[in-house]
Amino acid sequence: MSIPDHEAPQLDLFSSEFKRNAYSLYAQLREQEPVYRFMLPNGQTAWLITRYEDAQAALKDSRFIKNPHTLLSQEQMDKWTFPMLERDLLIRNMVASDPPDHTRLRNLVQKAFTPKMIEELRGRIQEIADTLLDEIQDKGNMNVMDDFAFPLPIIVICEMLGIPAEDRDSFRDWSNAIVRAVHLPEKIQEALPQIRSFIKYMGQLIEERRNDPDEDLVSSLIQAETEGEQLTENELYSMIFLLIVAGHETTVNLIGNGVFALLQHPEQWEKLKSHPGLISSAVEEILRFYGPVELASSRWAGEDVPFHEQLIRKGDMIAVALASANRDEAQFIHPDRFDITRKNNRHLAFGTGIHHCLGAPLARLEGQIALLTLLRRMPNLRLSTDPGTLQWVPAYVMRGLVELPVQF
Ligand code: HEM
Repeated sequence: MSIPDHEAPQLDLFSSEFKRNAYSLYAQLREQEPVYRFMLPNGQTAWLITRYEDAQAALKDSRFIKNPHTLLSQEQMDKWTFPMLERDLLIRNMVASDPPDHTRLRNLVQKAFTPKMIEELRGRIQEIADTLLDEIQDKGNMNVMDDFAFPLPIIVICEMLGIPAEDRDSFRDWSNAIVRAVHLPEKIQEALPQIRSFIKYMGQLIEERRNDPDEDLVSSLIQAETEGEQLTENELYSMIFLLIVAGHETTVNLIGNGVFALLQHPEQWEKLKSHPGLISSAVEEILRFYGPVELASSRWAGEDVPFHEQLIRKGDMIAVALASANRDEAQFIHPDRFDITRKNNRHLAFGTGIHHCLGAPLARLEGQIALLTLLRRMPNLRLSTDPGTLQWVPAYVMRGLVELPVQF
């Protein structure tokens, strides 16, 4: 598969075929059209940015903004995202805001996610990882995605927020439907029942915590809401929604992609087994090599922005391909080589600039514990199927496997 010339049909970034061939297509784009114009399924013009240096510059450029409501008409907004009612309840969050709202919203939860606070969760995360493996240790096989990668981060984020972890299967359905619907108008319609169930669930949770506050994040956010003008009710819903979705959808794929990358490169698995001290650099390499977030969340040009030879017009959307930046030969030596001892690994898997991932310390800790626990308890882990048959989830923004069957 190669990038089409201007007469040919456009690259379909939403197809499974693109996902399968993405890294070689990104390499061609970096060389031939580093700022590539494409059309979203809703008819809006968008630009794909694929070089490391450009990605970094775009993510730090305040002319590219996150909240497009002053740029797009009501009709365009309706095509881009959820209907108005749901939109108000779900996307008034920090990742879809610009300063000063962004700063205010981020400050409200920042302190719960500092490396020091997260380090205190180490013992509990280890316990969860061990309990999950206890349940399957005697079986001799598992689907890493369902049996391990998914439950671990969802239990952790539920406990932080004060949500019963038994409800995790519902979150999985809801957030799967939502993540797969990004920028696809017909899928947004299909996902509406799940979106509405999610909103109803959050309403009940907020009500319960209002009546009976606890030590958890939801209770402290409710306190911020009632104490003054720090947080509106819509922002409260949107914050919980963001933390649930961002807090598990991505880390599930860090664990899944990590196991996959290590088993695809058995010499690296062996190296990590004999040098577990390499775990931190191994997790950074997994983030670079198969980063769970393929494209940073959408930004819009708040004014005309000349970029390379192109003019990105006010109101156009940009998609920063983190996955491509992380394989840029101008930044990384042998970028397509998976090497857990890589030095100077300044990958962009967590983004950069003011929206740099809030949960990075948590994601890193979960990834490290998950992989070390697997190495320790299932040292002969191996794929049960030909790696070529494994399927990537056809989601525009994410990179994660549908299933990952292994034996041990
Ligand atoms: C933002 C990646 C885990 C919460 C981001 C961004 C990226 C990212 C790329 C920036 C988006 C942009 O600029 O458009 C990841 C990856 C993860 C991960 C790869 C796992 C491996 C988590 C976890 C949480 C979390 C565990 C927390 C519970 C957030 C939040 C933001 C964010 C709240 C928005 C920050 C802001 O707008 O200021 N993440 N994330 N993430 N992430 Fe993560």
